[in-house]
Order: sequence, then C-alpha cells, then structure tokens
Amino acid sequence: MLRIDGNVEKLRRAVRGLRQEGGTVGFVPTMGYLHEGHLSLVRKSVSENQTTVVSIFVNPLQFGPNEDYEAYPRDLEKDCMLLEKEGVDLVYCPKPEDLYHPDHSTYVVEEGVSRDLCGASRPGHFRGVCTVVLKLFHLVEPDRAYFGEKDYQQLQVIRRMVRDLNVPVEIRGCPIVREQDGLALSSRNVYLSPPERASALALSRSLKKAKALYDSGERDAAKIAGCVREELKGDPSLYVEYVEVKDASELSALKTIERPAVLALAVRVGKTRLIDNVILGEGNP
Ligand code: PAF
Repeated sequence: MLRIDGNVEKLRRAVRGLRQEGGTVGFVPTMGYLHEGHLSLVRKSVSENQTTVVSIFVNPLQFGPNEDYEAYPRDLEKDCMLLEKEGVDLVYCPKPEDLYHPDHSTYVVEEGVSRDLCGASRPGHFRGVCTVVLKLFHLVEPDRAYFGEKDYQQLQVIRRMVRDLNVPVEIRGCPIVREQDGLALSSRNVYLSPPERASALALSRSLKKAKALYDSGERDAAKIAGCVREELKGDPSLYVEYVEVKDASELSALKTIERPAVLALAVRVGKTRLIDNVILGEGNP
C-alpha cells in the first residue's frame, strides 16, 4: 500500500499511475480513527474496483468554532495498518495546510437538502463537507465513491452536489454498521463513559420502536417521531437536538408517509453528539 502524506501533486501522479494498470478507481473519504463502519465501505470498494484509494483527513472546515475539531480522535498509524490489511492501494493523509491555502476563499454550498437536520444545528458544516469532498474528487478522480448511511443527510448532500455540478463519479451508499447491542458505530463513541454508552442505546432502541410502529401500519409522521421522543425522554444525560421524519431523497417535510422516508435524529449524550437514522419504506432511493 502506497501512503502519501501532504503534496497533492504527488497524490494526483500516484492515482494516475494506478489507473494506468486498468479498471476502475474506488474512493473512500474518511476522517480516520477507523472502525468496522469505515472498513465496510473499504471492503465494498475493494470488491468493486481494481484500485481503492482512502483519504484520512480531519477537515477543519466542517467543524464549528465550539465543536470537537481539536479533540477529534486520531490514530493514523493504526488506521494505515487496518487499510493495508484490507488491500487498499493508496492512502492519502494530508495536513490542513496541504489542502487549504492560507487565503482559501472558495467554497461549495448546497442549498437544498443541506438546510434542515444537521444543517440547521451545525451551520457551515455541509459547506465544509462539500468543499473538501469536491476537492478530493478532483484530486483522486474516482469512478465510484463510498459513503455510510449513518451520515444519511451527508450522503444526500453529496449526491445532490455531484448531480448539480456534473461530477463524473458514482456515489455508493452503504448500510449502517452497529454494535451487537444496536449502537451505531461512530468514531465519537470513544468519548462516551460507560454510563453514557448505556444511555446512548436509547437511540437505536427508539428507532427500532418507530420502525415497528411503521411496520404495523402507522403512517402519521408526527406520531412516529413522537414515539421516538417518548423513548428518549426521562434520561437526563440525553439532550434531543432533533427527531424528524423526512422524505428519503429530498429530505423535505412529510406529514404522512406515503413514499420512502427517513427518520433521523441527533442527540447529545453528555457532551457527545450522536446521530442515527432508519429508513421507513423501500430502501435508500
Ligand atoms: O463522513 C466523514 O467522515 C466526513 O464528513 C468526510 C466525508 C470524510 C468529509 O470530511
């Protein structure tokens, strides 16, 4: 496995070299501190492409001033070891100054599907995500790129950006990976104390209840969201940022679920912000 730290031109040259060996290039952008969720994306890419490129970059542009950029967990050496084992061809590990000029002043702003949910509670977050992802797409020029459905809104924002800006890449969404007890894997789970981790199980438990309610025939979005809120209330270590049912591809508001929907939530467990979701209806559009 080739590892490139820094220089974007070196990365471009290396990817072009690999591409000459033929076949497609799959790309998995990450912020590192890899877990089984990331590795499921990597495995999918390795199985579908001749070449797989992974980036590891904690992108300062997508963190708000009071968020956890500095504290975000990092373990580059372990990540590279894991990626090597998975058969990744190239890992790119830039520093902020390798990707952003000191007077960087150009951004990618999606103004539709990024508005609500995390877009409302984390102003500027998706601008940072879109900007870095588009830059990485330009550098790697992948045929396919892989994103987890845990960050469901991010996946829809990237799909929209790629469609609107005619980026020649196929976006592949991959299912949420959970611990056996239901907790969705996230690099931020490492922040949870043992009691907080126990409290965090309410997220997946509430989504499971909501899905059961939907499966029993309930189609009233407010009732389904209410069932989630009910499950989350009462635990003082849980602060609900949002619980919302939205159209699964447009992320527009829904009163009655007559087409595929996503039930998405963001909850702070102590100081740790966690997100999770479940699809109600037929699959990811
Ligand atoms: O999902 C993430 O880890 C990040 O938002 C991404 C897509 C790597 C962009 O920094």
